[in-house]
Order: sequence, then C-alpha cells, then structure tokens
Amino acid sequence: MNYYFAPMEGITTYIFRNAFAKYYGGCSTYYTPFFSSIGFNKRELHDINPENNKNLRVVPQILCNDTGIFLTLADKFADLGYDEVNLNLGCPSGTVVAKKKGSGFLSVPDRLEAFLETVFDKSPLPISVKTRIGVKDAENWEQILDLYAKYPIKELIIHPRFQKQFYRDMPSLDAYVLATKKINVPLVYNGNIEDPSHLAALLKKAPATDTVMIGRYLLYNPELITELNGSEPSLDLARFRDFHAEMMEGYLSEMPGDRPLLHRMKELMFYCCHYIARCKGESDTDSMIKKIRKAEHLAEYKAAVQSIL
Ligand SMILES: Cc1cc2nc3c(=O)[nH]c(=O)nc-3n(C[C@H](O)[C@H](O)[C@H](O)COP(=O)(O)O)c2cc1C
Repeated sequence: MNYYFAPMEGITTYIFRNAFAKYYGGCSTYYTPFFSSIGFNKRELHDINPENNKNLRVVPQILCNDTGIFLTLADKFADLGYDEVNLNLGCPSGTVVAKKKGSGFLSVPDRLEAFLETVFDKSPLPISVKTRIGVKDAENWEQILDLYAKYPIKELIIHPRFQKQFYRDMPSLDAYVLATKKINVPLVYNGNIEDPSHLAALLKKAPATDTVMIGRYLLYNPELITELNGSEPSLDLARFRDFHAEMMEGYLSEMPGDRPLLHRMKELMFYCCHYIARCKGESDTDSMIKKIRKAEHLAEYKAAVQSIL
C-alpha cells in the first residue's frame, strides 16, 4: 500500500511535513494546503520553496474556479520544479462553496467542464484531482464521474462524502467502489482510515486499491502507517517530544508573535493528545486538551506540554 499525507490547511506546512517525515515517515507524497491566489504571501512562499522541501515528494494544491489563476499557479509550480499539481474539488467550507469553488464547483457542471477543458489542454503539469462526491447529496456522483472520465486525470483522489456532510457520517465505500467500476484513471481513496480494520474494510470492497490518502488520523496517531503495515507501534513518547520540539523550533523561527504560533501548535496538539494518551496508557484526553487550551502565552503552552509529556 502506498500512503499519501492529505493536505490540511493550517497544519501540513513545510515545517510539519519535514518533522513528520523525519520522526515517523511512511508517506510517499505530501500535498500542500491549497493555494488560491497568484500573489504568494510569505508563508506560502516558504511552504513552496523547493529548498524547504528537499527529499520529500510534494504536490502543490490549487483551489480556484478561474482558468487564468490555475494556469498561472501551475506555471509557477512547474518553474519551481514540481511535477504535478492537484485541483481541490472537495473543500466543504461555506464561504468557498458559495463562490462555486472546492466542492461547490461540483454544483455547476457546465462551468466545471469548461474549466477542465482549458486547464487539461494548457497546464504545463499533469493534474490530479481531489474530489467529494457531490454537494447536497451524492445523486450526481455518476454524472460527475462521467465528466472526469473525459480528461487525462493523473490521479483521482476520492473523499466519498458530499459537501453538506462536512466530516459527519462515515465516507461511502460504495461511492468509491462505483468509481472503480466506472472510470479508468488511477484512484486514491481518502477518508477515515482510522486503524487497520478500516483499511481491511476498504480492501474487502475495493481489493485493487493500492493508494490511500490520510489526514486527521495521522495526527491522532503518527504511527498509524506502521500499524496499517502490520507492525506494532513503538508508542515512544521521547520520539514524540522530539517531533514536537522540532516543530516548535521551526515555527519560532518563522512566526514573529506568540499568538499565531500558539494557535498553530494548539490545533495540532488537540489531535496529538490521543496518541500521547495512548503512549501513556491513559484514556482521558480531555484533561490534556483543557491544559493546552488554557495556555494564553507561549510559556504557559510550553509548561502545559511539558507536564503532559
Ligand atoms: C483542518 C483541516 C484542513 C484541511 N485542509 C484541506 C486542504 O487545504 N485541502 C484539501 O484538499 N483538503 C483539506 N482537508 C481535508 C483533508 O485533506 C481530508 O480530505 C479529510 O480530512 C479526510 O481525510 P481523513 O479522514 O484521513 O482526515 C482539511 C481537513 C481538515 C480537518
């Protein structure tokens, strides 16, 4: 099985990617959070700088519905040496969907088709697509697949939920199986691969699956891939401490004030508390999360993390 690290806005920065690859690894490819405008801010420039992504295979992601923006960004990524670009047709956020971007683009199939015609014709890089299976429901999933079938999509990454579900309910394995039958492009499954039983359930329904993309569950459990590959996790708190310290150091050198750094580290640690509890043989994550949430300054955050770890 081949594993991809899912793009996660605010989390999977170059600092995170490098630290994850160093301390845990197991992913062949890392997707950047989405880029949506032509002018890169400082954070985006750092994130995409090849110097900051050495020894990692990174695919930049674009979220837009404008062919000009897509092609300009794809040109920039090609100039920087990237070998693929990913189109986000999955983002469920209300503001994005209202502008008919992300999964909202699926609600205007004629516009989407015109967009795909142009970008597949003119893109300097092969295009992979990360998609949901619909907007209000999954009724149009077959038509969406018929549309995708017209283009030389490098890989179709399917998160089989529709937009209105956000992250509720379980992803529809049946919708993924339908895609395996209907479309002849390489497929990647994404969504709630939480433990080996979820991977086994996927493989039972879609035995040809050879690549899965994982996001939140690699934060809940950075050793998930070891477990999916049939080995015992080390549950090594010292290793996690080093992983955390490396990210802190990276962000301290990038972010001037306490607040943005605190926000970033807190968000990450809310997920990682589950793994820390497991390493410590505890089941209560609430008290850890409370301690971290309470920290208003960096010194308090560091003290909270130190006491937890
Ligand atoms: C905080 C957060 C940020 C995300 N940012 C992005 C993003 O920038 N681009 C994208 O395609 N998906 C994004 N996603 C969706 C994930 O890539 C993935 O599809 C989703 O979490 C389901 O996979 P999982 O169950 O393994 O987490 C985000 C999800 C979360 C929770």
